[in-house]
Amino acid sequence: MTNNPNESVPHIHWPPIIRPRRLRTTPWIRNMVSEHRVTVNDLIWPVFIQEGNNLRTSIASMPGVERLSIDLLTLAVKEARDLGIPAIALFPATPTNLKTQDGEEAFNPENLVCRTIRAIKAAVPDIGIICDVALDPYTSHGQDGLVRNGVVVNDETVEVLCKQSVVQARAGCDVIAPSDMMDGRVGAIRKALDNAGFSHVAILSYAAKYASAFYGPFRDAVGSANNLGKSDKKTYQMDPSNSSEALREVALDIAEGADMVMVKPGMPYLDVVARVKDAFKVPTFAYQVSGEYAMLCAAAANGWLDREKVILESLLSFKRAGADGVLTYFAVEAAKLLKAQ
Ligand code: PBG
Repeated sequence: MTNNPNESVPHIHWPPIIRPRRLRTTPWIRNMVSEHRVTVNDLIWPVFIQEGNNLRTSIASMPGVERLSIDLLTLAVKEARDLGIPAIALFPATPTNLKTQDGEEAFNPENLVCRTIRAIKAAVPDIGIICDVALDPYTSHGQDGLVRNGVVVNDETVEVLCKQSVVQARAGCDVIAPSDMMDGRVGAIRKALDNAGFSHVAILSYAAKYASAFYGPFRDAVGSANNLGKSDKKTYQMDPSNSSEALREVALDIAEGADMVMVKPGMPYLDVVARVKDAFKVPTFAYQVSGEYAMLCAAAANGWLDREKVILESLLSFKRAGADGVLTYFAVEAAKLLKAQ
């Protein structure tokens, strides 16, 4: 038989000589030939922070996910570390009164994210901290960049993103993750970090980030949905119809100094994950975004899907596509399931 299934057609026998089912007969042989596996090391946990003390707020469109004040988040992160989760990704819900046209709170060294980084580094120093870089948690219009005459401007935004990156690095963040999709920002941020003495801080770029409707629940979680209103992010996030363009975006980010790249959303874009990993062989991550989380939770809550099984199968699909890890709101639950296996 050749590798091409069509070429093998003339050689087919009855009864069959080649029987793929032989390797599926028992658990031991299935385990022996299994090609991919999810481990706790593959899981990055995105978390939402809010101001206050001893406060937790549930998010209607993300059942089971809560926005936590720093003290409670610190406890949750300890649990994640104890389960073996390597890193968390921080997302702040900025109080409305601190949101402005130009999002200056993004580079305030005392902002919610910076205080959270310091608190977690003090209490749980052995877990990695990844910080988003984009202005949407801080702008009154909910866009990821500065708006001038109705346009999200590129180069002026990148200057602010550089300031935001340096402030987060100074607070102790390990990995800067630009999610804004401005052109040239990875190179500019690399230079800004290096000039400020943070050459050891890594960059995980959201290299292929699509203008997706699957981010809806996240915008509820960070409270940017109302700010954005009916506007969209199509002038900077990618068109869902494109995949060759993703390779171009990734190539640029690698050339500009990205240490790792990300594809986002995840499950509807596994073809992109596979192409990126095949083409570049660099550490490649995928984000199982809020809408994907919401879909699986909703189906499971209705009894239409087996929650635990679809969590693990969905995570395995990322590994099969070539991802080195997954940002997932299921991280803690999945880590517990993997431990119990
Ligand atoms: C902000 C950002 C978004 C997400 C991560 N960072 C939303 C957006 O671009 O509008 C989405 C994550 C998710 O849906 O889980 N730049």
